[in-house]
Amino acid sequence: MFLSDAEYDRLCATMNSEQTTYARRFPRESLLQWWEREKRDLPWRSDPSPWRTWVSEVMLQQTRVETVIPYFNRFMRHFPNPEDLARADMDNVLKLWEGLGYYQRVRNLARAVRMLVESNHGVIPSDPADFARLPGVGIYIQAAVMSIAFGHPLPAVDGNVKRVVARYRGDFTDISSSVFIRHVRRVLERVISPDRPGDFNESMMELGALVCLPRNPKCGVCPLSGACRAQALGLTDRLPVRAPRPRPPLHEMAAGVVIRDGRILVRRRPAQGLLGGLWEFPGGRVPGGESPAQTVKRICREDFRLEVNMGDRVAEVSHAYTHFRIHMSVFLAQSGAGPDPAIKGPEAMRWILPSELNGYPFPTAHRKAFPAILARLASGDGL
Ligand code: ADE
Repeated sequence: MFLSDAEYDRLCATMNSEQTTYARRFPRESLLQWWEREKRDLPWRSDPSPWRTWVSEVMLQQTRVETVIPYFNRFMRHFPNPEDLARADMDNVLKLWEGLGYYQRVRNLARAVRMLVESNHGVIPSDPADFARLPGVGIYIQAAVMSIAFGHPLPAVDGNVKRVVARYRGDFTDISSSVFIRHVRRVLERVISPDRPGDFNESMMELGALVCLPRNPKCGVCPLSGACRAQALGLTDRLPVRAPRPRPPLHEMAAGVVIRDGRILVRRRPAQGLLGGLWEFPGGRVPGGESPAQTVKRICREDFRLEVNMGDRVAEVSHAYTHFRIHMSVFLAQSGAGPDPAIKGPEAMRWILPSELNGYPFPTAHRKAFPAILARLASGDGL
């Protein structure tokens, strides 16, 4: 079933008379009691200050709780307040985020706190509209932070919450559609606890994470099961519905570990765009008609006016991003002599020692090649 916006609005209008009964039927108190009993002891829950809540929610967007925990603790040790992040060198910030992915999230967070330091004494706004004006604050982050830290009754809808609501309502709408997410928001606006909106939002997310699992949900212990349509109708294994996504395309990539006088050439990616601000070995997509080694040689010439002698392939890496997958061949290469070929500004490239590699923020795909590269360089058999 797929409703257009207009159909959806008409349906909502006809449902208005049902609002109070619907809200009354939703077992909110059972949900909140379950939350008190079962909530996990997570680091950001021990002191839900606006800053800790904001950082945790930014990290938790797109990333699993278990992955986030050590990153969150480390980030908080380095940046206990927004001012600390506003002052920080972006390389250090990216290093602390390295491996979490979606680096735009942390660049936006850093921009946002710099704006707050300049215009609001570093204070995080408690007004949802003011908060939403900051870079990177979309409707989810706004609702999560404003409800948990300041008690605004805004429903926070993530993937777990969508699954809970699709099952609770027996709704066969594609959960990846924007219609469905808006629908969930409107449903939850009617039932969110006005006194404990943060607990309500976290309890819905927690229910999705611990009980209303994608497969084999634990309906026997679910505080919503008495009112859940999917449970009543035996539909839990058919819901939620997600339109099949095409398999992301596979890109052939190549990168070169270019060596000169015992140092390796690395460059910083442009601040905007995918993996923005991270460092990498020179390379890129391998076009049809070119071998991976030829690609590295050509890119070194085009981007750095550098002639290189290609050596062995030292690593092959596979990595999946959200919208595509890559297979990357990593080669050793010897740089020819000649002037230092910086052509994109002094910050865009550096010659670094192999022992310095780990100090730079690199994309995970490149990091995967580090052990093979370092082993090969340590063996003295550089090329
Ligand atoms: N996912 C997103 N926000 C969360 C939170 N506050 N607790 C647990 N999981 C979450």
